[in-house]
Amino acid sequence: MNIKKIALIGFMGSGKTLFGKELAKFLNYPFIDLDDYIEKKYKMKIFQIFEKYGENYFRNLERQEFFLIKRKYKKLVLSLGGGFPCYKNNMNLLKKEFFTTFLYVPFEKSYQYIKNDLNRPLVKKGKNFLETLYKKRLPIYLKAHMILKADIPVKDLIKKFKKYLEKHRSSLS
Ligand code: S3P
Repeated sequence: MNIKKIALIGFMGSGKTLFGKELAKFLNYPFIDLDDYIEKKYKMKIFQIFEKYGENYFRNLERQEFFLIKRKYKKLVLSLGGGFPCYKNNMNLLKKEFFTTFLYVPFEKSYQYIKNDLNRPLVKKGKNFLETLYKKRLPIYLKAHMILKADIPVKDLIKKFKKYLEKHRSSLS
């Protein structure tokens, strides 16, 4: 497989942004975190977009920006918000052009990481809501090309990714 565009997916708090930055550095690829990109472009925080326009608006916005980004880059590490693969046909779209990597972290670990984060608007809906959401999304995330157990230090995750590439003789160029 030719790995020029890599998409990182997974539940909130699974470390997509941190890993994405390191992976992009390691591969010498550009890095984009879709949420950060949206916040900068629209000069609003994600929770403000949810509050002002609602979740559906955000889902359309993230899809629209995704289309623009994917057209613009030949090589890329793209970190996506936890909901992205779970709306419309986004997961199928992603898999067509990106090498999709699911960062798997058990619910409880993700929750401990996100529970006090006010910029994640879904967090205030509570633990039960989030756990149900996690369970609903898991089968979609599991359709990714690669699944990485991600509750380990980033440098070890990079090693795992590297091993996968070597094993599958994947081409990066
Ligand atoms: C969301 C995850 C967030 C962000 C928004 C909605 C979700 O991104 O896109 O708050 O539905 O899971 P992270 O996964 O980076 O926290």
